Amino acid sequence: MTNKPAELHYDGHTIELPVTEGSENERGLDINKLRDATGLVTIDNGFMNTAATSSAVTFLDGEKGILRYRGYPIEELAEKSTFIEVSYLLIYGELPNAARLKWFENQIGKYSATKDGIKSIIKSFPKEAHPMAVLAASVVALAGFHPEYAEGDLTEAQKDEVLPQLMAQVKNIAAYQYRASHGQDLIDANPKKYDYVSDFVAQMYGKEPDVEVIKAMNILLILHADHEQNCSTSSVRLVGSSKANVYASVSAGVDALWGPLHGGANQAVIEMLQEIQADGGDYKKFILKAKNKDDNFRLMGFGHRVYKNFDPRAKIIKKACDTILEKLNVKDPLLAIAKGLEEEALKDQYFVERKLYPNVDFYSGIIYKALNIPTNMFTVMFALGRLPGWEAQWKEMVETTSTKIGRPRQIYIGSKERHFVPLSERK
Ligand SMILES: CC(C)(COP(=O)(O)OP(=O)(O)OC[C@H]1O[C@@H](n2cnc3c(N)ncnc32)[C@H](O)[C@@H]1OP(=O)(O)O)[C@@H](O)C(=O)NCCC(=O)NCCS
Repeated sequence: MTNKPAELHYDGHTIELPVTEGSENERGLDINKLRDATGLVTIDNGFMNTAATSSAVTFLDGEKGILRYRGYPIEELAEKSTFIEVSYLLIYGELPNAARLKWFENQIGKYSATKDGIKSIIKSFPKEAHPMAVLAASVVALAGFHPEYAEGDLTEAQKDEVLPQLMAQVKNIAAYQYRASHGQDLIDANPKKYDYVSDFVAQMYGKEPDVEVIKAMNILLILHADHEQNCSTSSVRLVGSSKANVYASVSAGVDALWGPLHGGANQAVIEMLQEIQADGGDYKKFILKAKNKDDNFRLMGFGHRVYKNFDPRAKIIKKACDTILEKLNVKDPLLAIAKGLEEEALKDQYFVERKLYPNVDFYSGIIYKALNIPTNMFTVMFALGRLPGWEAQWKEMVETTSTKIGRPRQIYIGSKERHFVPLSERK
């Protein structure tokens, strides 16, 4: 169905703006011609109303709590699929058949040796360095060690090599960083023996991976694998739009993910729960703090830019959390605090009015903790999960011929023109 164009009346002129429609009937006002026609730009703080691109990777309806990768509901993928299969789905658009899955796993295996120089970079960091600093630096450093892929324009064959290679390398870097920070020898990938997730666990802990741990990790990684145009993915696309190489683009995604308002929230949630525990466990006190506008404390793991009903990933994670803790026989008092906090917040007017619900990070930290992953590595786990999403979005962007360099405008509010005053004459 073609939509009637919208009319904009401005300064006595009327212009028509086309309305475009996506496959799930999402409609958007196309303002591509706005500035040429009127001299106006739009202001959209935090891009709350701006669709930066059309994309066929992920569909998300924040009001209805829907999340689908390439059309498949997140609930089905979390229950029935594996992280590696979902990675293929995101990057190539379809679930792989057995031969394609094997090909993808073989590609990851083929490119899983890490250069000694990258290992030296990882080992050169102080033990207390934040793992996200090590990850971001090592990912961008890959461009220096693999000049054959360090171009903005790559052939199909090169993309079929570098995308699995990056998946192999990020897995290695994450595990190496953990070992190096614990003063342990690095363990190389063993793709002949292990699947992707088991290999990561074996590389990190140096022992046979536990089936329950692998199941839990697959679910967590699948839930994090893509989330359309979020802060880190937009950073990947923005950097990639300048034709910077894929390593630089993904490294920018790692940086953006680090912040506590984005991927860093899972670390912040555990720290908050520990703070509540240390304070005697009175979560109601912290709800009051979060509501107090003179206090900049926020309930970490609550609220979301797009989910205004519930975060479907949080529902899956909450259930998985109970199952995993039981299976691993872990009793974590933080879980009781988290559940109490959630229950209390969900009936509080402040949170209800602002549509603030637990997000994916609220329970994921408790699972990571049960899997013995150190708190400061939680965001690295998020990055490992988000990597195929970044790759898929980068691939889609570079393969879209109409992609332009991302370059927002501004409304200037600084000084009008003034003239240079020599230092000796300045007051
Ligand atoms: C995710 C987040 C950044 C979304 O931000 P946003 O869409 O820009 O929403 P805003 O920051 O404008 O918040 C809207 C209102 O809710 C309040 N609010 C939002 N999240 C809140 C939280 N976690 N605790 C307390 N109040 C919160 C804001 O203070 C604001 O109140 P006001 O209207 O009275 O000023 C925000 O909810 C947040 O900081 N959450 C905690 C961090 C987190 O869990 N991030 C992980 C996201 S997956």
